[in-house]
Amino acid sequence: MGDRMSFMVWNKSYSVDVAIFDDEHKKLIAIINQLHEAQQSEIDKPALLQISDNLVEYTLMHFRHEEMYFDDWAYPGAAEHIAMHAKLRRQVFDYRMQIQEKDSRALAQELAVFLRDWLTQHILVDDRKYGTFLREKGLR
Ligand SMILES: [Fe+2]
Ligand SMILES: [Fe+2]
Repeated sequence: MGDRMSFMVWNKSYSVDVAIFDDEHKKLIAIINQLHEAQQSEIDKPALLQISDNLVEYTLMHFRHEEMYFDDWAYPGAAEHIAMHAKLRRQVFDYRMQIQEKDSRALAQELAVFLRDWLTQHILVDDRKYGTFLREKGLR
């Protein structure tokens, strides 16, 4: 946002070749950037928690959405992928709890960095696999 360099930037190499999921990943990246910018500013704790909540909610929604497609298209890699989502879900819930209870600003930044790194790896390796599969099924 503004002229500041974004913390995380979506680029073509992140594309899973299925438009709706590219859009959701872009939205997810936008909220991660929002969290990063928020913790750098004079934002108060309730506002920081609000952004953290948005991030948690959107992540959960996105995972459910991907998993719905795995089901609908009988994706062979589903079990493994769903297990990764489940693990991340627990980690993100844990961060959310700690942001509420402890030093919210430092933990919010930790969450932003953690999710940026996790998401980069997850999209480039795991999401791209279902992308290739769905594309072979004719999805765009
Ligand atoms: Fe994803
Ligand atoms: Fe995923």
